Amino acid sequence: MAKTLKILTVFGTRPEAIKMFPLIHLLQEDQRFDSRVCVSGQHRGMLDQVLEIAGIEPHHDLDLMQPGQTLDALTARLLEGIGNVLDEERPDWVVVQGDTATAMCGGLAAYYRKIPVAHVEAGLRSGDIHHPWPEEVNRKIIGTFAALNFAPTETSAKSLTTENVDPAKVHVTGNTVIDALHWITEKVAAEPALATALSEVEKRFAGKRIIGVTSHRRENFGDGMDAIADAIGRLADRDDVAIIFPVHLNPNVRSVMNERLAGRDNIALLEPLDYPNFARLLDISSIMLTDSGGVQEEAPALGKPVLVMRETTERPEGVEAGTAKLVGTDADRIVEEASLLLDDQEAYSAMARSHNPFGDGKAAQRIVDLLAG
Ligand code: UD1
Ligand code: UDP
Repeated sequence: MAKTLKILTVFGTRPEAIKMFPLIHLLQEDQRFDSRVCVSGQHRGMLDQVLEIAGIEPHHDLDLMQPGQTLDALTARLLEGIGNVLDEERPDWVVVQGDTATAMCGGLAAYYRKIPVAHVEAGLRSGDIHHPWPEEVNRKIIGTFAALNFAPTETSAKSLTTENVDPAKVHVTGNTVIDALHWITEKVAAEPALATALSEVEKRFAGKRIIGVTSHRRENFGDGMDAIADAIGRLADRDDVAIIFPVHLNPNVRSVMNERLAGRDNIALLEPLDYPNFARLLDISSIMLTDSGGVQEEAPALGKPVLVMRETTERPEGVEAGTAKLVGTDADRIVEEASLLLDDQEAYSAMARSHNPFGDGKAAQRIVDLLAG
């Protein structure tokens, strides 16, 4: 019988947890693997929300989050902390996801030990090292040493081979976020009580069109966040519209949004929603306004027009499919584009078509089979 492969998944933030849990579920039940899980705790509350709903109990929790952490201090703590876990576990593979500091340091610590790295969601490129910042470079660094690159789309696979990554190491799998979305949708269908956190707000905003908002990008801190708050405030002046905005726990986001938008009639500023309730927000929203990566992938799958408050995107597939539009962080432009969707039924219908450019919900199984070799 073939040797059991010890797979150590390493992650630390909300989006990584969402995109890793479908894979961990499969690894746990597959005899070919000994699945071990290390979380860095780069996020705390927002990570724990996902671990709880997905039923994942990490074997290692480095609990690294510090309020207002800087990139250099976080990176140093991550590298050392994950390195210690690798020395203890000595896995056959380290699996990291995406482009966060945890993913980059998890991969680097494995590379320093000559442990092969598998990269989930490999090959996304905006072509601009400052957008998303520092994620574009984090993702490129992982691509330089990954032994297996799981590209979600043909576009991301091509970006890797264009950078001279050996095509034999690149596999198009789809994005596990679609697996996660299917899983949570089925779970909520079986247990509707999991997704009732918005009931009060839904009652308060009955009859209005909902705009769901998320925002957290580092490159938007300062002027970008101010402009986003300004645009949201102006959209909420309309009687027919309500904004539901679960605010990221990063103080650079919360301070601006609380100061500018708290107490407004048509705006609900909420704590971060857990995944079942965020899926509900996607469901009830007419439009999503976001600078998030994951939301750009989920919204097209649900046929929700998504206005992306960024200058560039490493996820062009949603834009090409016509369900996402880049609107930048100029307040006038954001208001103009959102108003067009609200006022012009034809413009709305043209964007509100469901597409699955990011996957078919079977990415995790493909990845598991490729890991098995
Ligand atoms: C991180 C990732 C980013 C990812 C985002 C997803 C890096 C450099 N950044 O950005 O790529 O898109 O997560 O959300 O890896 N905080 C809490 N509780 C939490 C989470 C965050 O209080 O559960 C606060 C803390 O003050 C923390 C701050 O937010 O210091 C920033 O967290 P950090 O992980 O450094 O950056 P994010 O902006 O969340
Ligand atoms: N999300 C969530 N609750 C929220 C906001 C977002 O569960 O209040 C989910 C969302 O469905 C998506 C992921 O978090 O899967 C996106 O995370 P985030 O925007 O923090 O990071 P990014 O994807 O930009 O790296």
